[in-house]
Amino acid sequence: MRGIFVTGTDTNVGKTVVAAALMLRYRDEVSLRYWKPVQTGIRPSTRSGRPETLQGRDSGIGIRTPDDRASSDDDTTEVARLSRTSEAQILRCGVRLPDPVSPHLAAQRVGTRITVRDLIAMQREVEHAPTPESRIRNPESRPRWVVEGAGGVLVPINERETMADLMQALDLPVVIAARSTLGTINHTCMTIEVLRRRMLRVAGVVMVGEPNDENRLAIERYGAAEVLGQMPWFVPLTPEVVDAWVRAEFDRSGVLFVGALR
Ligand SMILES: Nc1ncnc2c1ncn2[C@@H]1O[C@H](COP(=O)(O)OP(=O)(O)O)[C@@H](O)[C@H]1O
Ligand SMILES: [Mg+2]
Repeated sequence: MRGIFVTGTDTNVGKTVVAAALMLRYRDEVSLRYWKPVQTGIRPSTRSGRPETLQGRDSGIGIRTPDDRASSDDDTTEVARLSRTSEAQILRCGVRLPDPVSPHLAAQRVGTRITVRDLIAMQREVEHAPTPESRIRNPESRPRWVVEGAGGVLVPINERETMADLMQALDLPVVIAARSTLGTINHTCMTIEVLRRRMLRVAGVVMVGEPNDENRLAIERYGAAEVLGQMPWFVPLTPEVVDAWVRAEFDRSGVLFVGALR
């Protein structure tokens, strides 16, 4: 598997919007697929008058509901909207849990357990499914993945494993979504330190919110990481404004492409 793992310094920092920006930025250069392995806070539609089940397979883990699209907290749908990505580039499989809490707890509350092993098995199954792209023998032409984590690096997924363990198992370079405001130097540098301690490659940082050049310089200096862009706060947040920003500002030198996606 090749691609990028998008993590954040926190929940709600802009990982989903950054993932959409990544889809927009590189899709002319490589074939990309977005995947959200673990989504919490996702409410199934009740169109049928009763909640759709989120359980799937024997593990009891939610796999896929067509009604994900109508749900309350659905990063996959938001990425599709913002990047105007076709369904073919979106993987809708993954663990889907109703409560908007940490994955370990959201799973516990529905009497199930998430493991890195199950997530990797799910990913392999999809990657090796017989689609025209996956039959391409040359690994260079296979799609690259934009994988969005849940929360930040040390968010637990069960009583032992964290998001960082998933990143290690997938072995993808990591892009960090960070706030631009006060406090971000500490949070970003801590995230970078945890990733590096686990031998994960920090592919870059995207700062979200009112651009702040001092914080940008500090992250580059103290975190020794590249800031790939400063994404302003858009009101309203539309595909057009994100696309215009991506074209004008995001990874202008193409370092992320060369370093992680090519
Ligand atoms: N650049 C931006 N401009 C406007 N709103 C944004 C921007 N980035 C994020 N948001 C909003 O902030 C909230 C959190 O962003 P999101 O990408 O969902 O964070 P995360 O995936 O880290 O939880 C969402 O409501 C999203 O629409
Ligand atoms: Mg998100």
